[in-house]
Amino acid sequence: MADRAPRILAFSGSTRRESLHRPLLRLAVRAAEAEGVPCTVVDLRDPPLPIYDGDLEREQGLPEAAVRLRELMAAHRGLLLASPEYNGHPTPLLVNALDWMSRAPGARPDLSPFAGVVGALVAASPGPFGGIRGLAVVRGLLANLGVTVLARQAAVGSAPDRLAPDGTLRDEGARRAVEAVGRDLARHVLALER
Ligand SMILES: Cc1cc2nc3c(=O)[nH]c(=O)nc-3n(C[C@H](O)[C@H](O)[C@H](O)COP(=O)(O)O)c2cc1C
Repeated sequence: MADRAPRILAFSGSTRRESLHRPLLRLAVRAAEAEGVPCTVVDLRDPPLPIYDGDLEREQGLPEAAVRLRELMAAHRGLLLASPEYNGHPTPLLVNALDWMSRAPGARPDLSPFAGVVGALVAASPGPFGGIRGLAVVRGLLANLGVTVLARQAAVGSAPDRLAPDGTLRDEGARRAVEAVGRDLARHVLALER
């Protein structure tokens, strides 16, 4: 299915206006682009997806937003996710998007937009562990979809104290860790082209 370009599709599991994950994703995206890999950043609120519903799928097919996300994924080699943690899990918003994206018209597994994709994860939270428990769950979910998720990840704890009002990460170590994720993903994406 996929005619992939050495590009990265990036989105966040939070669309909250004051989301910690928006600046976090931006930082990782900039690091990837500095390596020469363009990124496509999408907002899961624009347009919103309904909660997955098998009856809706059977009666109306995939929502347009799901088709668009699938097509975008199929055209990108990399996937960068900023994944907030809710009660030790990724957000329903993120899981719902991935669930819809995993649904092929006619349920043909050979049409998976995730096959051959390389992924990377970042998270942040007001708590001390930065959402690291949620990342373990997203990692497993993505592996089930056929994404190879890089070992390197960043989970920024106490994030509201470390993020400046303009969205820059004041903490040097945390900033480097997030940038390293974007850079590492970009390098893997480029390596797959050779
Ligand atoms: C329902 C809910 C559950 C949460 N559970 C956790 C949690 O398990 N671990 C954690 O570190 N933060 C938890 N938080 C706090 C989130 O990390 C925090 O709201 C964060 O800012 C969400 O990401 P965002 O700023 O990008 O929206 C939870 C928040 C909500 C609303």
